[in-house]
Amino acid sequence: MNVIETENLTKTYKRYKKREGIIGSIQGLWKREYEEKNAVNSVNLKIEEGEFIGLIGPNGAGKTTLIKMLTGIIAPTSGRIEVLGYYPNDLKNEFKEKYAVVMGQKSQLFFELTANDTLRLFKEIYGIPEAEYQERKQYFIELFGVEKLMNMQVRTLSLGERMKMELIAALLHNPQILFLDEPTIGLDAIASRQIRGFLKQVNQEKGTTIILTSHYMEDIKTLCGRCVVINHGSKIYDGRTEALFEKYQNSKKITAIFEQPVDGSRFLTDGLMLEDTPHKKVISVPKEKTYQVLQAIMEENPSDISVEEEEIGTVVERIYKGRSET
Ligand SMILES: Nc1ncnc2c1ncn2[C@@H]1O[C@H](COP(=O)(O)OP(=O)(O)OP(=O)(O)O)[C@@H](O)[C@H]1O
Ligand SMILES: [Mg+2]
Repeated sequence: MNVIETENLTKTYKRYKKREGIIGSIQGLWKREYEEKNAVNSVNLKIEEGEFIGLIGPNGAGKTTLIKMLTGIIAPTSGRIEVLGYYPNDLKNEFKEKYAVVMGQKSQLFFELTANDTLRLFKEIYGIPEAEYQERKQYFIELFGVEKLMNMQVRTLSLGERMKMELIAALLHNPQILFLDEPTIGLDAIASRQIRGFLKQVNQEKGTTIILTSHYMEDIKTLCGRCVVINHGSKIYDGRTEALFEKYQNSKKITAIFEQPVDGSRFLTDGLMLEDTPHKKVISVPKEKTYQVLQAIMEENPSDISVEEEEIGTVVERIYKGRSET
């Protein structure tokens, strides 16, 4: 069953263009100029129940705009949109009870209350029966190991702790779809990993459909079986995440630190030196050459070494180029 369907979904923002200087401002009083921006452009999307979808694309691609339309925060300019059988922007109460949205940049919690009281308030807002509320709250508290935080004022929680509470608050009413707009933004590696584990479990155990946007490769790779890539408002890839990275992620980034100064030219069999100082080398190498380059580096006794994936932006750029060339 499809829980989300869109057809030629488009959002055009109209932005008032202010002319420069005082004269420009005065002229603007009777003749306003507008600039139109197709933030989302004719997007067709079908998402089935239980899927975990990664929505990726560079800054300004239209991801948040798409999520805002799917959750009814804004109305589309044109096209068809159906989420769980509803037109989201009608904002019917029955619809609002069936999904949740968490935005990394915007809190939904009540900062002056304790975490416990905040959750209780959500219970009242959604009319969750007491027994269900207790059971779910306990399940999430244990999953996240946040017992100790429950009596703290939300305002005093760290970013990572607050994000865990945001997720618990969003999931209390057992939504069928969870929309996440950059939930791991600004979090350290440990908190991000905990949140990924939590989301995976919610998707698998509760069958919640999850739509996740993130600029972090790790989030997308470990969680999302399917990926939708958008660029300049248009969908440029929709398919298995593995296939996307196999086809378009060509290189790895190796960073090596040495106690003794080292000549980096010998590592560069077939790569690109991104940073070359006597004690630190950062090299971008084709995936299949990673092992070979690592071996050469190991011979120089590095004091530290790390291998990272290419950034999402680089991969998206490559998809985009590949498409415009064919
Ligand atoms: N309220 C608005 N009025 C006018 N233009 C807007 C408005 N909101 C967004 N835009 C423009 O629409 C485009 C898409 O923005 P959107 O926030 O959806 O991008 P995004 O993919 O979420 O980017 P990011 O990764 O930076 O969060 C951008 O060019 C942005 O400037
Ligand atoms: Mg955004």
